Amino acid sequence: SLDSFKGVLNNRFYIGTALSNEQLIREDNKILREAANQFNAIVPENCMKSALIHPQKEVYNFTLADRFIEYGLQHDMWMTGHTLIWHSQTPDWFFKDSNGNEVKRDELIHRMKDHITTLVHRYKDFIKGWDVVNEAIEDDGSYRETKFYKIIGPEYINLAFKFAREADPKAELYYNDYSMTLPEKRAGVIRMIRALQRQGIRVDGIGMQGHVNLTSPSIEAFENSIVAYADLGVKVMITEFDISVLPFPNEHLGADINTTVSYKEQLNPYKEKLPDTIQQKFNDRCFDFFKLFLKYDKAITRVTVWGVSDEYSWKNDWPITGRTDYPLLIGRNHKPKEILKQLTT
Ligand code: XIL
Repeated sequence: SLDSFKGVLNNRFYIGTALSNEQLIREDNKILREAANQFNAIVPENCMKSALIHPQKEVYNFTLADRFIEYGLQHDMWMTGHTLIWHSQTPDWFFKDSNGNEVKRDELIHRMKDHITTLVHRYKDFIKGWDVVNEAIEDDGSYRETKFYKIIGPEYINLAFKFAREADPKAELYYNDYSMTLPEKRAGVIRMIRALQRQGIRVDGIGMQGHVNLTSPSIEAFENSIVAYADLGVKVMITEFDISVLPFPNEHLGADINTTVSYKEQLNPYKEKLPDTIQQKFNDRCFDFFKLFLKYDKAITRVTVWGVSDEYSWKNDWPITGRTDYPLLIGRNHKPKEILKQLTT
């Protein structure tokens, strides 16, 4: 049917959303019903990250993740797991031995294996694709010097893919990262994927997070990256799409956001409502992106937006808390935005 994103994009690519812990926890959840009406793929926004699902060495907390799976099964949705190995939202215990010293290489590899195997096994047959490694490359194309990198070396990436593959040979395994349009970063990601491929490690897909704003990156840069990643022979996914309409504080470096009231207001200009001119810019930008995604629907298998509707977007709280952003496909009025109509014409 043409009144939903999943209806309109049917047979082109999956159209997915992230589900927050808050949404998964609530009984009688209107938002979860809306998500099922609009989307045919889901990813957990937080509940499968190691800090949440594996808070202590011997403790796994599967409650929310199980609920996520149950919901996805109920609505016959494509489920992606996010994320097995990442420098962020990883609990401190992961890198410490029982004396509180930095964990030794072999032990860290052992912990990675336990973590990956446990999750991938548990959700085998349900989770069809995993973000195995998230954000391992810096914007300049070098390896991010995470604790995994420092303690294990760059092989931690190969090992993560190897452990995941062993745990579920049928699952698709992905590399996921942000700012995937920067030429140096793109070159670094491509180098890394090629190195994995040379070593016989199969990477099934690359996730371009897609946290964009009204001006950056350009559609052309995004297109170049889609083409470059697809050339590696992997699937391309837009995994965390949102279009922030707010100024990024970096552009205002020098002012102190905590003490300068006017500066804080300046960074949250659309508290009451989004002006029509900005709404129009959002609509145009969103349509431009979807036209691009549809142009490459042979390479792109999934587009996932990072949240069900504007009020639940992480962008309201990142990189500064307490703002009012409008980055998603469904507004605070719980209605699909203009883009849905544009896609049907
Ligand atoms: C974000 C979540 O949306 C927030 O709720 C959480 O506080 C921090 O993480 N890149 C990723 C996602 O891969 O996991 C991040 O999600 C956003 C950036």
